[in-house]
Amino acid sequence: SVDDPLTVTCTAPVNIALIKYWGKREEDKILPLNPSLSITLDVADLRTKTTVVASKQFDRDRLWLNGKEHDINNKRMQTCIRKLRQGADDLWRDGKLMIAKEEWKNYRLHIISENNFPTAAGLASSASGLACFVYSIAQLLQFKETFPGELTTIARQGSGSACRSLLGGFVLWESGTALDGSDSIARQIATGDKWKSLRVIILIVNEQQKKTSSTAGMQTSVQTSDLLKVGGDRNIFLIIRLIKEKFRAKEVVSMQLSRMRDAIEKADFPTLATVTMQESNQFHACCLDTFPPIFYLNEVSKEIIQFVHDYNADNNDITVAYTFDAGPNAVLLTREENLEKLMNSLHQKFGFFPVTREGVTRSVFENSQSD
Ligand code: PMV
Repeated sequence: SVDDPLTVTCTAPVNIALIKYWGKREEDKILPLNPSLSITLDVADLRTKTTVVASKQFDRDRLWLNGKEHDINNKRMQTCIRKLRQGADDLWRDGKLMIAKEEWKNYRLHIISENNFPTAAGLASSASGLACFVYSIAQLLQFKETFPGELTTIARQGSGSACRSLLGGFVLWESGTALDGSDSIARQIATGDKWKSLRVIILIVNEQQKKTSSTAGMQTSVQTSDLLKVGGDRNIFLIIRLIKEKFRAKEVVSMQLSRMRDAIEKADFPTLATVTMQESNQFHACCLDTFPPIFYLNEVSKEIIQFVHDYNADNNDITVAYTFDAGPNAVLLTREENLEKLMNSLHQKFGFFPVTREGVTRSVFENSQSD
C-alpha cells in the first residue's frame, strides 16, 4: 500500500524580466499583449519553497503562505489545481502501481509555501510562488504534459510571469495567437553558459507591499495608455495611429526582443544592458502614461538610475544596467570583473549592502524530497 499522507517539497527561483510583460490581451487565460524575456536567478536567498501534502483524510484543499492561512478558493489558483488534477497520472513505485490516476480525485491537498524575501514588493514573488505552487502539485500528482510547455501554460494562468520561473537561463514567454492560449508558452532560449560572468545585484529600496498590484496596474494601462496600446473607445483612431506611430505592444517590443536575443547569442553585455535599461524605462513610462498614473519608482530608485548612467559615463563603457518591476527595488546587472568596483561605489553612494550577487541558473528545480 502507499503512504498517506504523501509529501513533495520543491523550490522555485525568481526571474527578472529584461523585456517586460505589461498588459493582457485576454484577462481570464492571462494572455499577454507582447512577448517577454527574462533571466532566472540562481540565488539561494531569493526562492519560494513549497511543500504539498496529499491525503485522503483531509476534508478540503488548504493553503498557507509565509505561515498564515490563505483562501485557496482564489480563481487563478483553482484554475491551476483543476488543470493539474486533469493531467494527473498513475503513481508507480518499484514497478508497482501505487495510485491509479482516477484515485487522485479522492486526495485533498495541503500546500505550505514560504518566500525567503519580501512578498509583493516588486521582487517577482508571485512568479516564484505560483511556479512553485504549480510545479510541486504537478510532481505530486505525476502530472503528464500533453504538449511541450503545457505546464508553463498552467503556471501562466496562476500569475503571468510565473511561467518563466519554470525554466532556467534566458527564458522567452511567447505571446502566442491561439484563442485557447495553448501557444502562449515559456521556453528556454539560451542557457546561462555564455553568461557565466553575469552578476545580479538587488537593492532593496523599500520592503513594503506595492500600492498598485501588477494585475490592477496593467488593466488601467491597457485601458488608458496610448504609449502601450490604443485601447477601448479610442479605437476609431486606431488605423490612423497604427500607420503613423509605433506603439510599445505592437512594434517596440518585437524590435527590442530581436536586439536582445542577438546580444544574448553574442554574449554582448553593452547591448543587453542598453536594451534592459530602455525596456525598464519604457515600462515605467507606460505606468506614468496610465491615467491616473502609477508610480512604482521612488526618489531613491531615480537616484539609482542616475547613478548607473553616471557610472557608465565615467567608465566610458556600459558595464552596469538597471531594471525595475512593479516596485521601487532595483535589480542591477553587471559582470564579475566589475563587481567589486561597482559594489564599492554603491556602498559609498548609498550605504547599501546588496541582498545578493549571483549568476543565472542553468538547472532550475531541486526536488528536495519526494515520496
Ligand atoms: O505576473 P505578474 O502579474 O506579477 O506581472 C509581472 C509584471 C512585471 O514584473 C512588471 C514585468 C514582468 O515581465 O515580470
